[in-house]
Amino acid sequence: MPVTDMETIVRAAEVIVSARHMVALTGAGISQESDVPTFRGNDGLWRQYDPMELATPEAFKRDPGLVWEWYSWRQGLIANCRPNPAHTTLARWARDGLLKALITQNVDGLHERAGSEDVIEVHGNLWRVRCTECDYRAHLSAPASGVPECPECGALLRPDVVWFGEALDAAVLARVWQELHLADACIVIGTSAVVYPAAQFPATVKSQGGAVIEVNVEETPLTPIADVHVRGRAGEVLPAIDRAIAALRGQ
Ligand code: APR
Repeated sequence: MPVTDMETIVRAAEVIVSARHMVALTGAGISQESDVPTFRGNDGLWRQYDPMELATPEAFKRDPGLVWEWYSWRQGLIANCRPNPAHTTLARWARDGLLKALITQNVDGLHERAGSEDVIEVHGNLWRVRCTECDYRAHLSAPASGVPECPECGALLRPDVVWFGEALDAAVLARVWQELHLADACIVIGTSAVVYPAAQFPATVKSQGGAVIEVNVEETPLTPIADVHVRGRAGEVLPAIDRAIAALRGQ
C-alpha cells in the first residue's frame, strides 16, 4: 500500500477506534472482489442489461419469465461466489464491538455468509422470495427454475428485492434511522452513492457531527463530505485498516 494511502489508512483507524457508535453502509463494490458484478462500473450489470426491463414491477408484470430468468442467472452466479476479506473484516469488527450496525444495499447475502449477523438489507435479498398476492415468504437454497408459484395460494412468487420505483420496507427503514441517529461515525464501502435513500445515510451521520470514512476505488458524490477517503479495493483496504487498528491498540 503506497505511503500516502497508509496515512489515510491510519486516519481511518483512528476514527474507528475513537467512535462510540459506528455504522457501515456497503454497496456492490464490497462484493466486486468476490466476482459479483457491480451495477455501474465498466463491466456493471446496468451496462449489459436495461434495469427498466428487469428490475421494475412493470417489467415483472410484463414478462415474469424474463425477470426470473435474469434473477435465477444472478442466483447461480452468486452461489459460486465467496465472501472476501472486506466482508469478513466487517463481521469481526461487529464481534469486537467496533461496528454497531451493518446496512447494505447488496442483495447477494455475502455479509451473512461472512458471519455478519442482523444485517440490515435495505434492498432485500436475492435468495428470498415472496408471494405477489399473500404474505408467503421463503428462502431459496438453490437458484429458482422457471416462474415459481406460491404453494399457499398459487399466485406468482417474486424475488424479495426492492425494484426501481418501489419503496423500501418501512420496518427496515425505521431500523436504519434508529441506528443512524445513534451513529457518530459511518464507514461507506463500495457504493456509487447515487441511489436514494441509501445515498443519504452517510450525510445524515455527518449532519449530526459524525465522521464519514469512504472506501472506494474512485471518487463519488459522497467524497466531498468524507472526513477520510481511502482510495483502494475494499478487500485490501479493510484488512489494512484492521492492522492499523491493532497497531493503535498495541496489539
Ligand atoms: N472496492 C471498493 N469499491 C469498489 C470496488 C472495490 N473492489 N469495485 C468497485 N467499487 C465501487 C465503484 O467505484 C462504485 O462506486 O463500488 C461502487 C459500485 O457502484 P454501483 O455499481 O452503482 O453499486 P451500488 O452503489 O451498490 O448501487 C446502489 O443501485 O441498481 C441499484 O439496487 C441496486 O443496490 C444497488 C444500488
